[in-house]
Amino acid sequence: MTQSAIYSRVVGTGSYLPARRVTNQQLADELATRGIETSDEWIVARTGIQARHFAAPDQTSSDMAVEAARRALDMAGLRADQIDLIMVATSTPDFVFPSTACLVQSKLGITNGCAAFDIQAVCSGFAYAMATADNFIRSGAYRNVLVIGAETFSRILDFNDRTTCVLFGDGAGAVVLQASAEPGILSSALHADGSHSNILCVPGNVNAGAVQGEAFLYMDGQAVFKLAVKVLEKVAHEALEKAGLEASAIDWLIPHQANLRIMTSTARKLDAEAKMVVTVDQHGNTSAASIPLALDVAVRDGRIKAGHTVMIEGVGGGFTWGAVLFRM
Ligand SMILES: CC(C)(COP(=O)(O)OP(=O)(O)OC[C@H]1O[C@@H](n2cnc3c(N)ncnc32)[C@H](O)[C@@H]1OP(=O)(O)O)[C@@H](O)C(=O)NCCC(=O)NCCS
Repeated sequence: MTQSAIYSRVVGTGSYLPARRVTNQQLADELATRGIETSDEWIVARTGIQARHFAAPDQTSSDMAVEAARRALDMAGLRADQIDLIMVATSTPDFVFPSTACLVQSKLGITNGCAAFDIQAVCSGFAYAMATADNFIRSGAYRNVLVIGAETFSRILDFNDRTTCVLFGDGAGAVVLQASAEPGILSSALHADGSHSNILCVPGNVNAGAVQGEAFLYMDGQAVFKLAVKVLEKVAHEALEKAGLEASAIDWLIPHQANLRIMTSTARKLDAEAKMVVTVDQHGNTSAASIPLALDVAVRDGRIKAGHTVMIEGVGGGFTWGAVLFRM
């Protein structure tokens, strides 16, 4: 008897944004008090960002991850203790260790001993986590996997550097992936090139009780821009090819929400501009949280429906990039 294939299906999505919303004008006014000049016009024209959310001083990535996870579990109709694996994609964990995923497990009250670990691929983290979860499910190891992207980038922003501090925001998004006889995730492609590690980084570490190096985000914006546009187009085609599909099969494209100009350029090459989900205008770049946040918005407002084919694609520090193609 042949065993039927196992696929991973998205059966629930959820997201969370911290209460404090900061518009470009509010941020520009705040920066002006430090002698830093920027404007709503500049930020909108160069990035498409109009506003972002910042976490409260005592709010952590795991706090936001738990809120997003609860909403995803709710949609999936699952209890938290039915989860077999928790993965949190984050570059802004609560601590050096334990992992944010272990903290999420505890805050969700899960006592079943399920596996829990973090994934560190910066803004590609959610694509990496989805692909990893898919492999665990297809191997038969786990049935219900909670995949979360959660970030508090506001903690690593240098508010004296106008070239970066206007770009990022905080938030969390989550999906529940479940084993199913029907697809499900159709294909994925992940890549990295560590030779570009210096163009987008937080080059610090903890040493002898203090931070050694820099604890702020550094970015060479133009180098990142050029590389991002190139690799996103390539990886989208790779994922399509693996699934045996043409770009016209995509119903919704959810690129990492970093910069509207990068997103539009990629979408244009796939002839998918009208199918692109955009939340960067209201969320800013929330790194690993940006894709699941956008996915949840488009699921809950009714754009993404059962049976639709969705492509997510991310790019970020490392340098890392990846795409996942799935049917809802
Ligand atoms: C960061 C980014 C928006 C900058 O846009 P750009 O068109 O490359 O702008 P430049 O860096 O060439 O700077 C142009 C001018 O704007 C100025 N500028 C930079 N930030 C500014 C700000 N917040 N407000 C006003 N002026 C600003 C620069 O100082 C520069 O001034 P100058 O010409 O007098 O030297 C752009 O490079 C970008 O989007 N990069 C990719 C970022 C990204 O998506 N990262 C995440 C990937 S995961």
